[in-house]
Amino acid sequence: LKDMRTVSWDPEAPALILIDQRLLPVEFTLIRIETVDAVVAAIRDMVVRGAPAIGVTAAYGLALAGLRSGASSRQAFLAEMEQAAELLRSARPTASNLSWAIDGTLSVLKANQAQAVDELQATLLEEAERLAEADIATNRRMARFGADLLENGDTVIHHCNTGSLATVEYGTALGVVRWAHEQGKRIHVLVDETRPRLQGARLTAWELEQLGVSYELIVDGAAGSFMQKGSVDAVLVGADRVAANGDVANKIGTYMLALAAHDQHVPFYCVLPTSTIDLSLQSGDEIQIEEREPGEVLSLRHNERALAPATARARNPAFDITPARLVTAFVTEVGVLRPPFRDSLSQALEKASP
Ligand code: MRU
Repeated sequence: LKDMRTVSWDPEAPALILIDQRLLPVEFTLIRIETVDAVVAAIRDMVVRGAPAIGVTAAYGLALAGLRSGASSRQAFLAEMEQAAELLRSARPTASNLSWAIDGTLSVLKANQAQAVDELQATLLEEAERLAEADIATNRRMARFGADLLENGDTVIHHCNTGSLATVEYGTALGVVRWAHEQGKRIHVLVDETRPRLQGARLTAWELEQLGVSYELIVDGAAGSFMQKGSVDAVLVGADRVAANGDVANKIGTYMLALAAHDQHVPFYCVLPTSTIDLSLQSGDEIQIEEREPGEVLSLRHNERALAPATARARNPAFDITPARLVTAFVTEVGVLRPPFRDSLSQALEKASP
Protein backbone atom coordinates (compact mmCIF):
# COMPACT_ATOMS: atom_id res chain seq x y z
CA LEU A 1 0.00 0.00 0.00
CA LYS A 2 2.89 2.37 0.77
CA ASP A 3 3.58 2.78 -2.95
CA MET A 4 0.03 2.26 -4.16
CA ARG A 5 -2.47 4.98 -4.86
CA THR A 6 -6.13 4.41 -3.99
CA VAL A 7 -7.09 6.19 -7.21
CA SER A 8 -4.82 6.13 -10.26
CA TRP A 9 -4.91 6.50 -14.02
CA ASP A 10 -3.89 4.06 -16.72
CA PRO A 11 -3.02 6.22 -19.73
CA GLU A 12 -2.84 3.20 -22.09
CA ALA A 13 -6.48 2.14 -21.77
CA PRO A 14 -7.48 4.95 -20.87
CA ALA A 15 -9.00 3.87 -17.56
CA LEU A 16 -9.32 4.73 -13.90
CA ILE A 17 -7.86 2.15 -11.51
CA LEU A 18 -9.37 1.83 -8.03
CA ILE A 19 -8.54 -0.40 -5.08
CA ASP A 20 -11.80 -2.26 -4.38
CA GLN A 21 -12.39 -1.28 -0.76
CA ARG A 22 -15.43 -3.53 -0.38
CA LEU A 23 -13.28 -6.63 -0.33
CA LEU A 24 -10.46 -5.55 1.99
CA PRO A 25 -8.82 -6.90 4.07
CA VAL A 26 -9.70 -10.35 2.76
CA GLU A 27 -8.88 -9.61 -0.87
CA PHE A 28 -6.75 -6.92 -2.45
CA THR A 29 -8.26 -6.33 -5.88
CA LEU A 30 -7.92 -3.53 -8.40
CA ILE A 31 -10.88 -2.45 -10.50
CA ARG A 32 -10.48 -0.92 -13.95
CA ILE A 33 -13.16 1.63 -14.83
CA GLU A 34 -13.74 3.01 -18.30
CA THR A 35 -17.02 4.94 -18.23
CA VAL A 36 -18.53 7.71 -16.19
CA ASP A 37 -21.52 5.49 -15.30
CA ALA A 38 -19.15 2.95 -13.80
CA VAL A 39 -17.44 5.74 -11.82
CA VAL A 40 -20.81 6.79 -10.37
CA ALA A 41 -21.60 3.17 -9.45
CA ALA A 42 -18.17 2.74 -7.82
CA ILE A 43 -18.68 5.82 -5.63
CA ARG A 44 -22.25 4.85 -4.72
CA ASP A 45 -21.34 1.27 -3.90
CA MET A 46 -18.25 2.41 -1.96
CA VAL A 47 -15.64 0.63 -4.07
CA VAL A 48 -13.95 3.96 -3.37
CA ARG A 49 -14.93 6.04 -0.33
CA GLY A 50 -13.63 8.81 1.92
CA ALA A 51 -14.28 12.45 1.06
CA PRO A 52 -10.96 13.37 -0.65
CA ALA A 53 -10.79 10.07 -2.58
CA ILE A 54 -14.27 10.43 -4.03
CA GLY A 55 -13.53 14.04 -5.05
CA VAL A 56 -10.49 13.01 -7.10
CA THR A 57 -12.35 9.96 -8.47
CA ALA A 58 -15.11 12.26 -9.72
CA ALA A 59 -12.55 14.46 -11.48
CA TYR A 60 -11.18 11.37 -13.28
CA GLY A 61 -14.81 10.47 -14.02
CA LEU A 62 -15.17 13.74 -15.89
CA ALA A 63 -11.93 13.02 -17.73
CA LEU A 64 -13.34 9.64 -18.81
CA ALA A 65 -16.61 11.25 -19.91
CA GLY A 66 -14.57 13.73 -21.94
CA LEU A 67 -12.40 11.12 -23.61
CA ARG A 68 -15.44 8.98 -24.52
CA SER A 69 -17.42 11.94 -25.88
CA GLY A 70 -18.27 12.03 -29.57
CA ALA A 71 -19.17 15.75 -29.50
CA SER A 72 -17.79 17.74 -32.41
CA SER A 73 -18.36 21.26 -31.10
CA ARG A 74 -17.15 22.93 -27.94
CA GLN A 75 -20.72 23.79 -26.98
CA ALA A 76 -21.98 20.20 -27.35
CA PHE A 77 -18.95 18.93 -25.42
CA LEU A 78 -19.55 21.32 -22.51
CA ALA A 79 -23.22 20.31 -22.41
CA GLU A 80 -22.20 16.64 -22.17
CA MET A 81 -19.75 17.43 -19.39
CA GLU A 82 -22.48 19.25 -17.45
CA GLN A 83 -24.61 16.11 -17.70
CA ALA A 84 -21.77 13.88 -16.54
CA ALA A 85 -21.14 16.30 -13.66
CA GLU A 86 -24.78 16.03 -12.57
CA LEU A 87 -24.55 12.24 -12.52
CA LEU A 88 -21.31 12.28 -10.52
CA ARG A 89 -22.64 14.85 -8.06
CA SER A 90 -25.65 12.65 -7.31
CA ALA A 91 -23.51 9.62 -6.40
CA ARG A 92 -23.18 10.56 -2.70
CA PRO A 93 -24.51 13.78 -1.17
CA THR A 94 -22.61 14.49 2.07
CA ALA A 95 -18.91 14.90 1.22
CA SER A 96 -18.10 18.44 0.15
CA ASN A 97 -15.02 17.32 -1.80
CA LEU A 98 -17.14 15.61 -4.46
CA SER A 99 -18.96 18.75 -5.63
CA TRP A 100 -15.83 20.85 -4.96
CA ALA A 101 -13.78 18.76 -7.41
CA ILE A 102 -16.55 18.69 -10.03
CA ASP A 103 -17.34 22.41 -9.84
CA GLY A 104 -13.65 23.32 -9.90
CA THR A 105 -13.03 21.16 -12.98
CA LEU A 106 -16.04 22.56 -14.83
CA SER A 107 -14.95 26.11 -14.14
CA VAL A 108 -11.46 25.41 -15.53
CA LEU A 109 -13.11 24.04 -18.70
CA LYS A 110 -15.31 27.09 -19.09
CA ALA A 111 -12.42 29.47 -18.44
CA ASN A 112 -10.46 27.99 -21.37
CA GLN A 113 -12.66 29.69 -23.92
CA ALA A 114 -10.43 29.21 -26.94
CA GLN A 115 -9.99 25.44 -26.54
CA ALA A 116 -11.41 23.00 -29.06
CA VAL A 117 -12.77 19.57 -28.06
CA ASP A 118 -9.44 17.69 -28.16
CA GLU A 119 -7.79 20.40 -26.05
CA LEU A 120 -10.68 20.33 -23.57
CA GLN A 121 -10.27 16.55 -23.25
CA ALA A 122 -6.60 17.03 -22.41
CA THR A 123 -7.48 19.80 -19.93
CA LEU A 124 -9.89 17.47 -18.09
CA LEU A 125 -7.24 14.83 -17.61
CA GLU A 126 -4.60 17.38 -16.59
CA GLU A 127 -7.00 18.80 -14.03
CA ALA A 128 -7.74 15.35 -12.54
CA GLU A 129 -4.01 14.59 -12.33
CA ARG A 130 -3.40 17.99 -10.73
CA LEU A 131 -6.08 17.33 -8.08
CA ALA A 132 -4.59 13.90 -7.34
CA GLU A 133 -1.09 15.36 -6.82
CA ALA A 134 -2.48 18.25 -4.77
CA ASP A 135 -4.36 15.81 -2.54
CA ILE A 136 -1.14 14.01 -1.61
CA ALA A 137 0.75 17.26 -0.97
CA THR A 138 -2.15 18.59 1.12
CA ASN A 139 -2.26 15.44 3.24
CA ARG A 140 1.43 15.64 3.96
CA ARG A 141 1.12 19.26 5.06
CA MET A 142 -1.80 18.47 7.37
CA ALA A 143 0.11 15.53 8.79
CA ARG A 144 2.95 17.80 9.86
CA PHE A 145 0.68 20.33 11.56
CA GLY A 146 -1.31 17.57 13.25
CA ALA A 147 1.65 15.55 14.45
CA ASP A 148 2.84 18.57 16.47
CA LEU A 149 -0.29 18.11 18.61
CA LEU A 150 0.75 14.58 19.62
CA GLU A 151 3.35 13.62 22.24
CA ASN A 152 5.57 10.59 22.30
CA GLY A 153 3.63 7.81 24.06
CA ASP A 154 0.13 9.17 23.28
CA THR A 155 -2.91 6.98 22.77
CA VAL A 156 -5.49 8.28 20.28
CA ILE A 157 -8.96 7.13 19.30
CA HIS A 158 -9.65 7.11 15.58
CA HIS A 159 -13.04 6.70 13.87
CA CYS A 160 -13.83 5.31 10.40
CA ASN A 161 -10.96 5.26 7.87
CA THR A 162 -9.09 8.44 7.03
CA GLY A 163 -5.88 6.89 5.74
CA SER A 164 -4.41 6.36 2.28
CA LEU A 165 -7.59 4.54 1.32
CA ALA A 166 -9.78 7.59 2.05
CA THR A 167 -7.55 9.88 -0.02
CA VAL A 168 -5.29 9.44 -3.04
CA GLU A 169 -2.41 8.60 -0.74
CA TYR A 170 -1.21 9.23 2.85
CA GLY A 171 -4.48 10.24 4.58
CA THR A 172 -5.88 12.99 6.80
CA ALA A 173 -6.37 12.03 10.48
CA LEU A 174 -4.52 8.76 9.95
CA GLY A 175 -1.87 10.70 8.03
CA VAL A 176 -1.22 12.62 11.27
CA VAL A 177 -0.65 9.33 13.09
CA ARG A 178 1.54 8.10 10.23
CA TRP A 179 3.77 11.18 10.25
CA ALA A 180 4.08 11.15 14.06
CA HIS A 181 5.10 7.49 13.79
CA GLU A 182 7.59 8.25 11.00
CA GLN A 183 9.08 10.96 13.22
CA GLY A 184 9.78 8.31 15.82
CA LYS A 185 6.94 9.14 18.23
CA ARG A 186 5.40 6.10 19.88
CA ILE A 187 1.66 6.39 19.18
CA HIS A 188 -0.99 3.80 20.07
CA VAL A 189 -4.31 3.88 18.21
CA LEU A 190 -7.62 2.62 19.56
CA VAL A 191 -9.42 1.87 16.31
CA ASP A 192 -13.22 2.23 16.39
CA GLU A 193 -14.56 -0.65 14.30
CA THR A 194 -17.10 1.81 12.77
CA ARG A 195 -20.39 0.08 12.23
CA PRO A 196 -22.09 -0.68 9.95
CA ARG A 197 -19.50 -0.94 7.13
CA LEU A 198 -16.56 -1.52 9.46
CA GLN A 199 -14.17 0.92 7.81
CA GLY A 200 -12.16 0.93 11.07
CA ALA A 201 -11.89 -2.84 11.44
CA ARG A 202 -11.41 -3.62 7.76
CA LEU A 203 -9.46 -0.65 6.43
CA THR A 204 -7.83 1.36 9.23
CA ALA A 205 -6.53 -1.75 11.00
CA TRP A 206 -5.21 -3.03 7.66
CA GLU A 207 -3.36 0.24 7.01
CA LEU A 208 -1.92 0.51 10.53
CA GLU A 209 -0.76 -3.09 10.30
CA GLN A 210 1.27 -2.27 7.20
CA LEU A 211 2.64 0.96 8.66
CA GLY A 212 3.78 -0.86 11.79
CA VAL A 213 1.79 1.45 14.08
CA SER A 214 0.63 -0.04 17.39
CA TYR A 215 -3.17 -0.41 17.53
CA GLU A 216 -6.07 -2.28 19.08
CA LEU A 217 -9.55 -2.61 17.66
CA ILE A 218 -12.46 -1.57 19.88
CA VAL A 219 -16.23 -1.64 19.37
CA ASP A 220 -17.65 1.85 18.79
CA GLY A 221 -19.51 1.78 22.10
CA ALA A 222 -16.29 1.27 24.09
CA ALA A 223 -14.67 4.60 23.20
CA GLY A 224 -16.31 6.61 26.02
CA SER A 225 -15.31 4.06 28.59
CA PHE A 226 -11.63 4.19 27.53
CA MET A 227 -11.69 7.99 27.83
CA GLN A 228 -13.32 7.75 31.26
CA LYS A 229 -10.48 5.53 32.44
CA GLY A 230 -7.99 8.21 31.45
CA SER A 231 -6.29 6.09 28.81
CA VAL A 232 -6.87 8.41 25.83
CA ASP A 233 -4.89 11.57 25.00
CA ALA A 234 -6.74 12.72 21.87
CA VAL A 235 -9.51 11.85 19.44
CA LEU A 236 -8.59 12.19 15.74
CA VAL A 237 -11.25 12.11 13.03
CA GLY A 238 -11.69 13.33 9.46
CA ALA A 239 -14.67 15.22 8.04
CA ASP A 240 -17.00 15.05 5.08
CA ARG A 241 -18.27 18.63 5.22
CA VAL A 242 -17.69 21.52 7.63
CA ALA A 243 -20.23 24.38 7.72
CA ALA A 244 -19.28 28.05 8.16
CA ASN A 245 -19.88 27.90 11.93
CA GLY A 246 -17.62 24.84 12.38
CA ASP A 247 -20.32 22.14 12.63
CA VAL A 248 -18.90 18.91 11.20
CA ALA A 249 -20.50 16.11 9.18
CA ASN A 250 -18.51 12.91 9.57
CA LYS A 251 -19.06 9.16 9.80
CA ILE A 252 -21.98 8.13 11.97
CA GLY A 253 -20.83 7.82 15.59
CA THR A 254 -18.54 10.86 15.49
CA TYR A 255 -21.01 12.99 17.48
CA MET A 256 -21.15 10.50 20.38
CA LEU A 257 -17.36 10.29 20.34
CA ALA A 258 -17.12 14.08 20.54
CA LEU A 259 -19.62 14.20 23.42
CA ALA A 260 -17.62 11.69 25.43
CA ALA A 261 -14.36 13.50 24.63
CA HIS A 262 -15.87 16.79 25.80
CA ASP A 263 -17.13 15.23 29.02
CA GLN A 264 -13.72 13.70 29.73
CA HIS A 265 -11.69 16.78 28.66
CA VAL A 266 -9.98 14.83 25.88
CA PRO A 267 -9.01 17.06 22.90
CA PHE A 268 -11.12 16.38 19.81
CA TYR A 269 -9.24 17.13 16.57
CA CYS A 270 -10.80 17.10 13.14
CA VAL A 271 -8.29 16.76 10.28
CA LEU A 272 -9.40 17.88 6.82
CA PRO A 273 -8.30 19.64 3.65
CA THR A 274 -9.82 23.09 3.12
CA SER A 275 -11.79 21.55 0.21
CA THR A 276 -14.03 20.01 2.89
CA ILE A 277 -15.06 23.44 4.21
CA ASP A 278 -18.38 24.68 2.82
CA LEU A 279 -18.95 28.32 3.72
CA SER A 280 -22.21 28.36 1.76
CA LEU A 281 -23.85 26.48 4.64
CA GLN A 282 -24.36 28.42 7.86
CA SER A 283 -24.58 25.40 10.17
CA GLY A 284 -24.74 21.62 10.27
CA ASP A 285 -28.55 21.77 10.06
CA GLU A 286 -28.14 22.52 6.35
CA ILE A 287 -25.85 19.57 5.59
CA GLN A 288 -27.52 16.76 3.68
CA ILE A 289 -26.98 13.43 5.43
CA GLU A 290 -26.87 10.34 3.24
CA GLU A 291 -29.20 7.55 4.38
CA ARG A 292 -27.99 4.18 3.08
CA GLU A 293 -29.84 0.91 2.71
CA PRO A 294 -30.94 -0.88 5.91
CA GLY A 295 -29.31 -4.08 4.66
CA GLU A 296 -25.91 -2.67 5.74
CA VAL A 297 -27.11 -2.68 9.37
CA LEU A 298 -29.14 -5.89 9.21
CA SER A 299 -26.52 -8.09 7.59
CA LEU A 300 -22.83 -8.47 6.89
CA ARG A 301 -21.41 -7.94 3.41
CA HIS A 302 -24.47 -7.43 1.25
CA ASN A 303 -26.82 -9.90 2.92
CA GLU A 304 -24.20 -12.65 3.09
CA ARG A 305 -24.95 -13.25 6.76
CA ALA A 306 -28.03 -11.99 8.64
CA LEU A 307 -27.42 -10.13 11.91
CA ALA A 308 -31.08 -9.67 12.86
CA PRO A 309 -34.45 -11.38 12.36
CA ALA A 310 -35.49 -11.47 8.72
CA THR A 311 -38.39 -9.11 9.44
CA ALA A 312 -36.33 -6.53 11.42
CA ARG A 313 -36.33 -2.94 10.15
CA ALA A 314 -33.35 -0.62 10.45
CA ARG A 315 -32.27 3.00 9.96
CA ASN A 316 -28.90 3.71 8.42
CA PRO A 317 -27.75 7.34 8.37
CA ALA A 318 -24.16 7.24 7.12
CA PHE A 319 -23.05 10.49 8.81
CA ASP A 320 -23.90 12.68 11.78
CA ILE A 321 -23.30 16.29 12.79
CA THR A 322 -20.86 17.20 15.54
CA PRO A 323 -21.56 20.73 16.82
CA ALA A 324 -18.62 23.12 16.57
CA ARG A 325 -18.58 23.62 20.37
CA LEU A 326 -17.30 20.04 20.75
CA VAL A 327 -14.36 20.51 18.37
CA THR A 328 -11.05 21.52 19.97
CA ALA A 329 -9.35 22.39 16.68
CA PHE A 330 -9.36 21.75 12.94
CA VAL A 331 -6.11 20.63 11.37
CA THR A 332 -5.85 21.77 7.72
CA GLU A 333 -3.10 22.12 5.13
CA VAL A 334 -2.76 25.80 6.06
CA GLY A 335 -2.46 25.22 9.79
CA VAL A 336 -4.34 24.43 13.00
CA LEU A 337 -7.59 26.39 13.35
CA ARG A 338 -8.92 27.34 16.78
CA PRO A 339 -12.25 28.94 17.79
CA PRO A 340 -13.96 31.20 16.90
CA PHE A 341 -14.29 28.89 13.89
CA ARG A 342 -16.41 31.24 11.79
CA ASP A 343 -13.33 33.47 11.53
CA SER A 344 -10.59 30.84 11.43
CA LEU A 345 -12.35 28.72 8.77
CA SER A 346 -12.90 31.60 6.38
CA GLN A 347 -9.33 32.85 6.91
CA ALA A 348 -8.05 29.35 6.14
CA LEU A 349 -9.97 29.26 2.86
CA GLU A 350 -8.54 32.64 1.86
CA LYS A 351 -5.05 31.44 2.67
CA ALA A 352 -5.57 28.19 0.71
CA SER A 353 -6.98 29.74 -2.48
CA PRO A 354 -4.32 30.07 -5.18
O1 MRU B 1 -18.81 6.49 4.18
P1 MRU B 1 -17.34 6.78 4.04
O2 MRU B 1 -16.48 5.60 4.33
O3 MRU B 1 -17.04 7.45 2.72
O4 MRU B 1 -17.06 7.84 5.17
C1 MRU B 1 -15.78 8.37 5.32
C2 MRU B 1 -15.66 9.31 6.46
O5 MRU B 1 -16.61 9.61 7.15
C3 MRU B 1 -14.32 9.94 6.68
O6 MRU B 1 -14.12 10.21 8.03
C4 MRU B 1 -14.25 11.25 5.89
O7 MRU B 1 -14.62 11.05 4.55
C5 MRU B 1 -12.91 11.84 5.93
S1 MRU B 1 -11.76 10.78 5.13
C6 MRU B 1 -10.29 11.52 4.94
